[in-house]
Parts: sequence; C-alpha cells; structure tokens
Amino acid sequence: MARTEPCPFDKSVCYEWHPVCTLGRGMSGVSLPAIGGAGPALSAGLHRGIEHAVAVGYGLTYDAIVSSFPPYEALLEEVAGYAKRSVGLRRDPRSAHVLDVASGIGTLAFRLAREGYTIVGLDGVEYLVEIAREKRRARNVANVAFHRIDIGGDEVPWREAFDFAVSLHTLYWHPRPAQVLAATRRALRPGGHALFLNYSRPARVLPTFKTILASEGWGPALGALRWLLPTALFEGCRDFEPHYMAAEELHDALTQAGFEILDAKRTFLGEISCLAWVRRVECAAEIDR
Ligand SMILES: C[S@@+](CC[C@H](N)C(=O)[O-])C[C@H]1O[C@@H](n2cnc3c(N)ncnc32)[C@H](O)[C@@H]1O
Repeated sequence: MARTEPCPFDKSVCYEWHPVCTLGRGMSGVSLPAIGGAGPALSAGLHRGIEHAVAVGYGLTYDAIVSSFPPYEALLEEVAGYAKRSVGLRRDPRSAHVLDVASGIGTLAFRLAREGYTIVGLDGVEYLVEIAREKRRARNVANVAFHRIDIGGDEVPWREAFDFAVSLHTLYWHPRPAQVLAATRRALRPGGHALFLNYSRPARVLPTFKTILASEGWGPALGALRWLLPTALFEGCRDFEPHYMAAEELHDALTQAGFEILDAKRTFLGEISCLAWVRRVECAAEIDR
C-alpha cells in the first residue's frame, strides 16, 4: 500500500485501516500492541492469517484479473522479447535455462514456457507455488518446475546455472531487495542476462486512472481499473514497507549488485514500472560470495 508515513502498527497506535490495526482497535479501543502480554502473539497470528488470506485472494483471482488484460499481455510479450534477445535468436530454446525469481501463480513462467525454455519458477509463498504446480499438472507443461524458495532469504540451490532471470514486480515487495539482487546474480551464469521490473510509485487508483485517461483516453483508463482496484485492495490488506524505486535508484542498486545495464525504460500502466535489462558482470570477489 502507498504510505506517506511509516505505519506505526508495531510501535503504538495505527489509525489506518489495515485489518490488523482495525481489528485491534475494534476489540479493545486501543491498538493491538497495547493489549497486555497477549498482544504481540495475537498480532503475529493475525498478521500471518491476513497474509495467508491475501495470498488466497490473490491466488484465486489473479488469473482472472490479468488474463486478456491488454496492458498485462503487452508486458508479458515485452518480457518474452527480452528473453529471446538474452538467450540468443539462433540458439535452441530448449537448451536455455530461465529463472522466474518470484513466479507467483506462474503466469509469466507459463508464457515463457511456450517459447520452449527450461524454466524454474521460485516463490516465497507456499500457497502460490501449490497453485502454480496444480496449473502445471492440469496443462501438462513439462518444461517448467515450481519451488517454494524465498530468493532473498533462503539458500538457492542453483549457482551460475541460468542463462536468463526475470524479476517481475518483486523488488518492491521483498523486505531485502539488495539480497534478492545478489541471489539472482549468483544464480546466473557469468555473462547471463536478467530483466528487472519494479514499481516506481504506488499504484494509487485515482492518480493512475487520471494519468492513463490523459495519455490514452477513457477506454484504457476504465480498463485499467480491473487491475488497479484489486491491486489496491491486496496491497492495502498487507502490512509491509514497499520499496518503490525511481529509475536512477533501480539502476544504482543494479550496478552495485554487479550488473551492467543494457537497456532501460518505463512501462506498464501509465508507465508505473521501471524496466532494466542487464547482464551479469564479473567484479569484486565479495559480490560473488
Ligand atoms: C506482485 S507479485 C508478482 C508475481 C509475479 N512475478 C507476476 O508479476 O505476476 C509479488 C510476488 O513476489 C513473491 N516474492 C516476493 N519476494 C520474493 C522472494 N524474495 N522470493 C520469492 N518470491 C518472492 C510473492 O510471493 C509474490 O508472488
């Protein structure tokens, strides 16, 4: 969720509408952390429950939100184009190993699987990985596998294994984006390519609607609500500190993580996302640890 100020949920009283805070206020008139000794345990339990509920809502609805949604389909085609350039136009795609850094329910991984690559999708949320696996079974897609791995936190069992990695709207989400970049770099073979997309600003409904209205007209602006409204709902229900990055900030983070920037642009709804196509460069040994 877009925050102008940090949520004081863990510290004192939060007057925002986060369900955890609202529930806490409703139960006692004070915030959860103030509810005696049970407060922290109760709040942690509620937090986990709400995170799971959001994941369930996201898992059940995401396909319906993005399937045949022209801006998202255009984004998937854009990613597929960069994958092709990364792997090399003349190479047999079956010999190319592709990593989807946070595959969610597998939407992008399945799109890239159509190109014939051998794909590994990782996601930190077990429930989403289960949905992706179920879809894989139902669609009988042989060249993609899904694993529950938090790429910024867990040990990633692949090193220098992938030709191309893609991180689609992940960095803003993860508490330690620098670790996500470092782990993605380690997973790439030397000289391997990656594509990072991150939100440059919150997907606020009204400002984004107005931007699209001004640049593209009523049809696309109204159409965008199909993605903006559920996204605002999901992100509003979560208690997290998003890492939105302006282009320069993203480029600095990528350079520091040991990537060379090959191409960069703004894309997706009202150019809300920054895209950077990069190559792993060999540099100081400490980056490789
Ligand atoms: C906004 S969703 C994007 C999902 C997918 N990349 C897409 O664009 O459809 C963010 C996803 O990132 C996952 N995630 C965030 N950080 C992660 C990490 N470090 N390792 C694995 N998954 C992560 C979340 O579980 C969630 O599925």
